[in-house]
Amino acid sequence: MDKIIIHGGRKLNGTIRISGSKNAALPILAASLLTDEVCEADNVPDLADIGTTVALLEFIGKKVERRPNKVIISPDKQRLSDTAPYDLVRKMRASVLVMGPLLARLGHVKVSLPGGCAIGARPIDIHLDGFSKMGAEIELSGGYVEVKAKELSGARIVFRYPSVGATENLLLASVLAKGPTIIENAAREPEIIDLADVLNKMGAKITGAGQSTIHIHGVDKLGGFKHEVIPDRIETATYLIAAAVTKGSVKLLHTNSSFIKAIVRKLVSAGLKITEGPDYISAKWTKNLKPQNIRTAVYPDFPTDVQAQWMALMALVPGSSYIEETVFENRFLHVGELQRLGADLRIRGSRVIINGVKRLSGAPIMVSDLRAGAALIIAGLAAGGKTEVLRVYHLDRGYEKLEQKLRKLGARVRRISY
Ligand code: EPZ
Repeated sequence: MDKIIIHGGRKLNGTIRISGSKNAALPILAASLLTDEVCEADNVPDLADIGTTVALLEFIGKKVERRPNKVIISPDKQRLSDTAPYDLVRKMRASVLVMGPLLARLGHVKVSLPGGCAIGARPIDIHLDGFSKMGAEIELSGGYVEVKAKELSGARIVFRYPSVGATENLLLASVLAKGPTIIENAAREPEIIDLADVLNKMGAKITGAGQSTIHIHGVDKLGGFKHEVIPDRIETATYLIAAAVTKGSVKLLHTNSSFIKAIVRKLVSAGLKITEGPDYISAKWTKNLKPQNIRTAVYPDFPTDVQAQWMALMALVPGSSYIEETVFENRFLHVGELQRLGADLRIRGSRVIINGVKRLSGAPIMVSDLRAGAALIIAGLAAGGKTEVLRVYHLDRGYEKLEQKLRKLGARVRRISY
């Protein structure tokens, strides 16, 4: 087990490079299951979830070569396995993204049901409804879901909610289906566009990714790809907020600020000075930051993945504000830990009421999930004295070189194994 020790109270100042997007890389790596040709993804962050995806691809029958920030996937075994086992799926829910491509290629797939996690129940009914619209039969038994279709046929699929994972899974299945598919009420996240770009490079016929209605015309065969994964918008937002909380000034390179417009708007309204360029964004703290309410929602609104970090910021901005979480039903596990540092927070149903305090003070705290972890690190950086952050393995799922980047910005952080 590792923990991160922070001696807080130092301003973050300086320049760092943003990593590739974890949530874009995961479905892109799964897309390699659609072909026997070589697939090469660049700007892939070195994270635990990428390691889990690589292990899953190898289990299914791919040869995977990992170089720094690059993953090269080629065929290995003669036949792909149709199963994603419990041991891998329990480590990472995004393992369900192999369903679409394996169903399309093999006509059957068996995936351990991911179950809930710390932030919510997270069912996969929207994915499964989509597959069944395409003619698949679905069976649940022994903790596994089995999906079978002799031939996947294109269909009109209307999502009851614009699920990111379901949009990706249905894209990954429909590219090899017979005839046209239309996905309505699709998710519009930049990661969906990146996946569609990769699939189109492989020979797929997708139009409308990034909009609510996506058209896919199934093809018989797909080739390999070479692709640079988009920058991580959640990591970008996390460091901007860290600069604001510590009264610092950071410049983030190799990113795309157009992915985080809703967050930038709120940061500017709060009083932060933001400068944007074609591939960078900088944030500078100014006096008299003002509280801002937020409500999380699907893209392009304020992302749930930045809700916890925003709470750490508002905890130190004088005045009252609230955060409303609408995407996940249980994503407030960081509240109790932030309170341990001295934050004045009250949970009221799906809202948290925040009364900004003058200062936080360091304490031992525990991470419950990836973004909660980011919020605790941010709060620890601003808190006076020493903060010990336990269960940092959650952070290793989503923040590449976290301590190195923070140290480069002047933070006093170190990791110790115990
Ligand atoms: C993706 O998860 C991200 N993960 C999450 O990032 C992110 O929080 C989430 O989208 C929302 O933006 C990856 O991209 C790997 P959803 P996903 O399906 O695809 C409900 C992080 O910290 N739902 O859009 O699982 C679901 O329960 C993570 O990096 C159903 O009810 O999200 C949730 O309440 C965590 N039935 C809501 O929809 C379904 O079949 C959004 O889920 C599918 C989802």
